[in-house]
Amino acid sequence: MSDATARQIIIAPSLLAANFTRLGAETVRACRAGADWLHLDIMDGHFVPNISFGPALVKALRPLTRATFDVHLMCDRPDILLEPFSKAGADRITIHVELGVRVVPLIWKIRSLGQQVGLAINPPTSMSALQPHLEQVDSVLIMTVNPGCGGQEFITECLTKIEQAAAWRDKLDLKYRIAVDGGIHGDTAASCAAAGADIFISGTGLFQHKNLKAAVLKMRKAVEAARCALERLS
Ligand code: DX5
Ligand code: ZN
Repeated sequence: MSDATARQIIIAPSLLAANFTRLGAETVRACRAGADWLHLDIMDGHFVPNISFGPALVKALRPLTRATFDVHLMCDRPDILLEPFSKAGADRITIHVELGVRVVPLIWKIRSLGQQVGLAINPPTSMSALQPHLEQVDSVLIMTVNPGCGGQEFITECLTKIEQAAAWRDKLDLKYRIAVDGGIHGDTAASCAAAGADIFISGTGLFQHKNLKAAVLKMRKAVEAARCALERLS
């Protein structure tokens, strides 16, 4: 079995696209639908113009499921948020590489809290920003839209970044997972899988479906098929 086949596929619905009048029920719906992780987008009105929700909501949702809570901080001051989100029930925390020199101490802080570490990169940012941190992270998150809101169109040019992240992983024999986030639905998920992604974060592409279980399964199958095709080529 190759590394690619052995790597678990993770389908992570983003709560940002859920019905905000019933977030508890939506959390349960996503987990019963077969979601591996629940993706929680935290926006502070500075790093991105939008504001979403904070640790109080994460704490309220925590008792509803044992699913991994994947917290994505699109925030200018993650330093003041790491502990609150960790205490609220996060299992893994992703920060952005655009934070520059603050990235290294933040990675260590996340680890010291017992959390898995993710590092995200925005579409306009060069992959060279990510390279120095690859050995320190559990996942890299290739943003496939500009962060800030759901429902945007997938930026096809980001596929080369996924390929680059996968090539570095092979070359350096590292174990980080590759996540994609933004405009992910059946077709784009398959393209990302073929490029080397293994975590598929999807808001609108999943929550818009009344039958969320069928939507999660369809995405998983599309990704598996793309992976099998990749295997046959290699
Ligand atoms: C975008 C967020 C995404 C968002 C994706 O800023 O990081 O997680 O929820 O939404 P869709 O899947 O609708 O593009
Ligand atoms: Zn996100």
